[in-house]
Amino acid sequence: LFAGPVDFVKGVVAMPGLPPADRPEVCFAGRSNVGKSSLINALTGRKGLARASNTPGRTQEINYFDLGGRGFLVDLPGYGYAKAPLPVVAKWQALLKQYLAGRPTLRRAFALIDSRHGVKDVDHEIMRLLDRSAVPFQVVLTKADKIGPQAMAQTVAQVEEALQKHPAAFPELIVTSSEKADGLATLRATIASLL
Ligand code: GTP
Ligand code: MG
Repeated sequence: LFAGPVDFVKGVVAMPGLPPADRPEVCFAGRSNVGKSSLINALTGRKGLARASNTPGRTQEINYFDLGGRGFLVDLPGYGYAKAPLPVVAKWQALLKQYLAGRPTLRRAFALIDSRHGVKDVDHEIMRLLDRSAVPFQVVLTKADKIGPQAMAQTVAQVEEALQKHPAAFPELIVTSSEKADGLATLRATIASLL
C-alpha cells in the first residue's frame, strides 16, 4: 500500500468540503506540535507532503491524502495550545470535533501522544468524544528518539493506565519516531489492514 502513489487531495475547512465518503480512511489526531504531519511524511516517505513545522498550529485544515485509490490518510489540525488567533483556533477545533464525531468511513483514529508528555487533560477530552461517537482509536507515541528507555517505560505505563477509562481505545500502543523511523513498519501494516 505504501509503495504505491500517494497524492494530496484537498484541504478541508468545513464539513461540506469533505471528499465523498466512498472509501475507508484513518486520521491522525493529537495536540498541536505532537508530530502528526511529520508522521504522515515519514510513513509515506514523502518529506514535504504534509507541512510540518516547529510552530504549534501549523496545520489549520483537514488535509486529505489518497493512498493509491485504496483509502485516505487524514492529517488533522491540532488541539490545545496553538500559535494562531483565538477565533481561528476556535473554528478549526470545532471542525475537528465535528469530523471526529461524524465521519462514517473513519476506520480508526490514531491518537498521537508525545512520548515526553503522556496523556494530558485535552487528550482525555478528545478521547471521550471518540468514546461517545464509538470511533475506535489507537495511541501512537511520537518522538521516541527524544527520551531514554526508563522515561519511555514511565510514559507507556501512564498511557496504559489512562486508556482504561476509554472503551473505544485499543490497548496496544505503537511507539514511533519519525526522525529515526522507529515503529513505522508496524504502523504501516496496521493502516494497510484497515484500508
Ligand atoms: P500542528 O500541525 O501544529 O498541530 O503540529 P503537528 O502535530 O502536525 O506536528 P509537526 O509534524 O508539524 O511537528 C512538530 C515539530 O516536531 C516539528 O519541528 C518536527 O520536526 C518535530 N518532530 C515531529 N516528529 C518528530 C520525531 O519523531 N522526532 C523528533 N525529534 N522531532 C519530531
Ligand atoms: Mg500538522
